[in-house]
Amino acid sequence: MKMRHGVKNWVAGLLLSALSAVALAQAAKPHVVVLATGGTIAGAGASAANSATYSAAKVPVDKLLAGLPELSNVAQVSGEQVFQIASESFTNDNLLTLARRVSALSKQGDVDGIVITHGTDTLEETAYFLNLVVHTDKPIVVVGSMRPGTALSADGALNLYDAVSVAASKDAMGKGVLVTMNDEIQSGRDVSKTINIKTEAFKSQWGPLGMVVEGRNYWFRNPAKRHTNASEFNIDEIQSLPKVDIVYAYGNMNTTAIEAYGQAGVKALIHAGTGNGSVAAQAVPALKALRAQGVQVIRAARVPDGFVLRNAEQPDDQYDWVVAHDLRPQKARILAMVALTKARDSKDLQRIFWEY
Ligand code: DGL
Repeated sequence: MKMRHGVKNWVAGLLLSALSAVALAQAAKPHVVVLATGGTIAGAGASAANSATYSAAKVPVDKLLAGLPELSNVAQVSGEQVFQIASESFTNDNLLTLARRVSALSKQGDVDGIVITHGTDTLEETAYFLNLVVHTDKPIVVVGSMRPGTALSADGALNLYDAVSVAASKDAMGKGVLVTMNDEIQSGRDVSKTINIKTEAFKSQWGPLGMVVEGRNYWFRNPAKRHTNASEFNIDEIQSLPKVDIVYAYGNMNTTAIEAYGQAGVKALIHAGTGNGSVAAQAVPALKALRAQGVQVIRAARVPDGFVLRNAEQPDDQYDWVVAHDLRPQKARILAMVALTKARDSKDLQRIFWEY
């Protein structure tokens, strides 16, 4: 009897030490916090055949994480539901709230990396905003999906697994805010959604920074522009964002929108011009009038790639206008809002567009 009792204790002891070894190993893994905001990655469709018809922002973060037990292979993961919205509805207040939470978490010693799950429609704007204002070297990875988790060949699970893998990686530190979609690691500054119904939707004209395959990162380049700890902008010092809007140019252009934004009190207007940021002759006086009222005029281009040359299509020096460099209009708006919390004049604003 005593012998059997002894064996039982020995086995129990073995089990306990095995369990504590597993628990210790898990506790030794990096701690990644997943901040959920909604989008398709939290979407649900009526049937598996619905890869494009579904409701976004339905699945809560706890369910998202519970549906991906493989995450425990790469990190200790905890989740927070910051919002539950489709990202086309993101506001400046959402950006500020999210950035403040990311900044606070990045300061915690028990947080090694942060993932933000997000709708893909404005994911590129949020990623760039965080890249400009969150001061940390810890990996921050924004991730979404093009198909809901209920669809055949859904992409969200692997995108999320990749995002947590990158956020748990020391080699992802100091690279600015990152975006993992479709096996690629993109710079939050450079990446844009370029296709609206394919999983290979996110591209940068300068190429991805690397790839993540089976939880391992393969890096091929580093960001060239200022970001995170090297930024002069800090979310902890930003209370609000100025009004900056975008006007889209096309043949037979008129000045209705330009004048309306002027009356609405914009602090800067992004002009998404044709070609290399061209401005129709009939629109120049309206933009010059805005500039005379103290509104910053920023020439971007509706053409997605390349970059707007200063003093090429327009005499920017003479008009005191700014060029958006390689930033697409929606990214130029994000940088203009952040820049105007500090920029003293158009010369300083142009410097910021060269550097960020
Ligand atoms: N409503 C869109 C959004 O939340 C869905 C697109 C997506 O998340 O892929 O951005």
